[in-house]
Amino acid sequence: MLSGLLSIFKKKTTLAQFSRENIPIHVAIIMDGNGRWAKGRGLPRIAGHKVGAESVRSAVKTCAELGIKYLTLYAFSTENWKRPKEEVSFLMGLLTEYISSEIPELRQNKVRIRFLGRIQELPIELQEKIRFAESETKNNTRLNVQVMLNYGGRAEIVDALNAINNEQSPNDTINEELIGKKLYTAGIPDPDLLIRTANEMRVSNFLLWQIAYAEFYVTKTLWPDFRREHLVNAVQEYQKRKRKFGALG
Ligand code: FPP
Repeated sequence: MLSGLLSIFKKKTTLAQFSRENIPIHVAIIMDGNGRWAKGRGLPRIAGHKVGAESVRSAVKTCAELGIKYLTLYAFSTENWKRPKEEVSFLMGLLTEYISSEIPELRQNKVRIRFLGRIQELPIELQEKIRFAESETKNNTRLNVQVMLNYGGRAEIVDALNAINNEQSPNDTINEELIGKKLYTAGIPDPDLLIRTANEMRVSNFLLWQIAYAEFYVTKTLWPDFRREHLVNAVQEYQKRKRKFGALG
């Protein structure tokens, strides 16, 4: 009871201090450190992914609360297939389960969810859930969540160029706008803030085209520990940055 009251109080004070100015429109996250979190507790790696799914719930809720319009999460890369078979199949199962269990709450909170990447290569059951979740939430506008699955930034650019090659007449000029329209993220503004957990200073083939001018924020916090206050801290750090987009400040 007392701890419940204390947590409500803590939440309120943080929100009161939170400036509503200069909130990023689009936050992208490289969720890292699930394995280390589990190892540190003597648990199997999958335990880290399980708790990581809780952090995903928390991030979605917090973005909706802060008025962030787009949240993009790196859930499974084109390179993650190289992990042990058991871990890959656990992750696929976890994602399938997450989609089913979250739809009511996503609908209730007016959240649209999309899954971007080479979705056609994923297990059929997961593809069906994805189609269902996307269609059930397609009219929601409060927050757009993109879960990147079987995703690679290079693969995305290759797919975009192939689409252009297959569709356009030879006279069309290839420019940045045209490539942007053929990426999986067409219609979604570029990320303003890119967060990476677990203290790794790498981009790991994530949104290579779209992060051209994103502000980078790296935290030591491991993804399973990443909760509301960590996201608020990242946004507050972003609010202090002066963005120049290549021009003079
Ligand atoms: C990186 O940690 C994490 C992943 C590759 C998987 C991310 C998946 C989740 C958070 C699970 C649920 C996702 C959704 C969208 C419900 P790592 O395993 O590379 O950690 P390590 O570097 O410490 O080994």
